[in-house]
Amino acid sequence: MKGFVIAAAIASLTGLGLSFELIAAPSQAEKSTAGKSILSGQGHARGAYLAQAGNCSGCHTAQGGLPYAGGRNLSTPFGTFITPNITPDRATGIGQWSEQDFWKALHEGKSRDGRPLYPAFPYTEYTKITRQDSDAIFAHLRTLAPVAQNNPPSTINFPYSFQPLLSLWRAFYFKPGVYQLETAKSKEWNRGAYLVQGLGHCNACHAERNPLGATGGDKLGGGQIMGSNWYAPSLTSSMEAGSAGWPLEEIIQLLTTGISSWSAASGPMAEVVRQSLQHLSKEDARAMAVYLKSLPESSPRLRAAAPALSEQVQHWFQRGAKIYEKHCQDCHGISGQGAPGIYPPLAGNRGVTMTPPVNAVRSVLNGGYPPSTAGNPRPYGMPPFAQVLRGDEVAMVLSYIRNAWGNRASLVTTAQVESSREGIHYR
Ligand code: HEC
Ligand code: HEC
Ligand code: HEC
Repeated sequence: MKGFVIAAAIASLTGLGLSFELIAAPSQAEKSTAGKSILSGQGHARGAYLAQAGNCSGCHTAQGGLPYAGGRNLSTPFGTFITPNITPDRATGIGQWSEQDFWKALHEGKSRDGRPLYPAFPYTEYTKITRQDSDAIFAHLRTLAPVAQNNPPSTINFPYSFQPLLSLWRAFYFKPGVYQLETAKSKEWNRGAYLVQGLGHCNACHAERNPLGATGGDKLGGGQIMGSNWYAPSLTSSMEAGSAGWPLEEIIQLLTTGISSWSAASGPMAEVVRQSLQHLSKEDARAMAVYLKSLPESSPRLRAAAPALSEQVQHWFQRGAKIYEKHCQDCHGISGQGAPGIYPPLAGNRGVTMTPPVNAVRSVLNGGYPPSTAGNPRPYGMPPFAQVLRGDEVAMVLSYIRNAWGNRASLVTTAQVESSREGIHYR
């Protein structure tokens, strides 16, 4: 264990030396702040920007609560985590923390008293953040008004509440280390990789987790979000949400406005766009898109064959088509083409056709809105159909749109719709 910690410390030190110039100071404005006191105006303004890119307030703010005062519940199969107060209040927040304590939390996943933290706090990704960026975020948090708010402790199920198990988990699945530059790649690509793998913690959602909640590295191969009925699609598969085939501008548009010519962000992704990605600078959004576009193709995590077009299946589609005409066509169009910037197309939309139908089922049952962003301030919504359509009707209309206008995908079953209705997690 000791050897592991020392090795990790060495790895992170070398990481720091390497990445300092290119990663931490990508633009002229940032270069001029490098080396200056991080408590200077520019220093914590940059910290505010970085905290937004990391969406720290997203988890550390309860619904209707004060920013960064914690108290948000994150329910997982391991228990319910309640996020801590990270305002500078001395008694209930991190007012007594030093820069070094903060760095240890982000980089090593350890609290000020040395307690190992649970990876519900995505330090498995944040460990890639440079020391300079960690200090800038800390400087920003120090400027917030202290909020005296004691949050209830997390309720973690046995055996996960047993601390030695967490230490073992960390020894197996967590290796601290700052992002390492890939020298063969461009500066822009490296900046994008740093943001996606580190601050953006995309892999915290876009990866399959094993039964112990570990993701097995930055593969972005898609997975069910723990404790929820959402599937975060693979960012490396052209059948899911890989963007290799997309023009750069479309990727940037999706990330920063929540809507593109081919799809719209919904649910947890709409939240990520609204709270975090829409605030990225032009250069950073572009860098992220460059990196995402470059990811090599992998096969989708889950794959189910489209049905043979038997008479029975055709009949099922005809009934689905009728429901579509009545309830969906006004917005999504006669041939599923949508309305640019207003209603997403369903033809050629991988959110509709990817193998796990969970998100499409949810969209139809619960409705939803793309995020409200500067680029799309008043998004048009989709009404919920849970009270309008029976389970078999939802299954029929979804099976139809998954196989109309050139789409081809597996059928959606009534059982899948009903389990979504009941909030049961399924694949
Ligand atoms: C996905 C949700 C999530 C996000 C995003 C998140 N955190 Fe947290 N954070 C948590 C949880 C949960 C804990 C508590 C973990 C535990 O108690 O073991 C935590 C703990 C912490 C702690 C340790 C506090 C203490 O008292 O020990 C710090 C510091 C912290 N987070 C800072 C940040 C910063 C800075 C960011 C953004 C860069 C951030 N967090 C983003 C969920 C999140
Ligand atoms: C809190 C969990 C979460 C995080 C963090 C997250 N995503 Fe997502 N993402 C989702 C879910 C769920 C979906 C599926 C819903 C949808 O299509 O909008 C999704 C969808 C997407 C899509 C496809 C959207 C579409 O409609 O075509 C892209 C691209 C994407 N995410 C990129 C990213 C990137 C890049 C990051 C990191 C900067 C990221 N995501 C972080 C949960 C997350
Ligand atoms: C009033 C207009 C409207 C109607 C009617 C409507 N939709 Fe939608 N639909 C939308 C909007 C807006 C979105 C984007 C929602 C979001 O981002 O959460 C959407 C999203 C979707 C999605 C997810 C697409 C993606 O990119 O992930 C599916 C699937 C879908 N609709 C299917 C249907 C079906 C099936 C019906 C009929 C039963 C229907 N819609 C009726 C407006 C509508």
